[in-house]
Amino acid sequence: MSRRKPIIAANWKMYKTKDEALDFIFKVNQEVISRELVESIVCTPAILLNLMVKREGEEIRIGAQNMHYLDEGAYTGENSPLQVKTAGAEYILIGHSERREHFNETDEVVNLKMQAASRHDLIPILCIGEKLEAREEGKAEEVVLNQLQIALGAIPKKFVEKTIIAYEPVWAIGTGKTASVEQAQSIIKKIRENLRETYGSEVSEQIRILYGGSVKLDNIDEFLQAPDIDGALIGGAALNPHNFIKFVESANNIKNK
Ligand code: PGA
Repeated sequence: MSRRKPIIAANWKMYKTKDEALDFIFKVNQEVISRELVESIVCTPAILLNLMVKREGEEIRIGAQNMHYLDEGAYTGENSPLQVKTAGAEYILIGHSERREHFNETDEVVNLKMQAASRHDLIPILCIGEKLEAREEGKAEEVVLNQLQIALGAIPKKFVEKTIIAYEPVWAIGTGKTASVEQAQSIIKKIRENLRETYGSEVSEQIRILYGGSVKLDNIDEFLQAPDIDGALIGGAALNPHNFIKFVESANNIKNK
């Protein structure tokens, strides 16, 4: 059995109404397998957090998709880490490529959000990944490791240990194109090596690193078979509750052998 507990995290993005969210959580609560075996996380829009937290069963945990890095202030329309925390979310997506691209989130902002997560003990799912150009220029590894180092700047080692990292090549998100398992494993291995150099092997062996980008029911098994890939961050394909349950089952079948 792998020493790292596998993770399946759904990213709902800006999908689902209240009724759809309730339908999802009702179905998933009935069938999803134990949290002892797989960490199952659903990252919802902020407005649905409270509702989802109230309905989460024993086996599911709820995360937010974004937050401001300040605890309060005159920032109309934003949610603070304190608000996310007190809504009951335990996880927070940080640095998703859609935030970086459409909302101008820089590596420095990502780092401030990591610091905010650390202050409030929200478990970050830190997203990093290169654009197509960088991959074509042979710079994927360089870009990803640079994003990683900036994001983790000034973060205490104890908190780095808890952080979940999601490697999501930007060109594979929502496009139907996935990275090959070899491409994903190779970058994820480099991320782990980089963490070992900075924080030591105890931390690097413990940290969970996920793959994300057009993960579907028919390709998840291949990714999970790679030794350094500890789970998946899934958008479109995990909106359906039955699919979500199946993703979690795959993680258990493959990783807990
Ligand atoms: P996708 O999204 O699975 O729809 O490609 C992944 C993500 O954005 O995290």
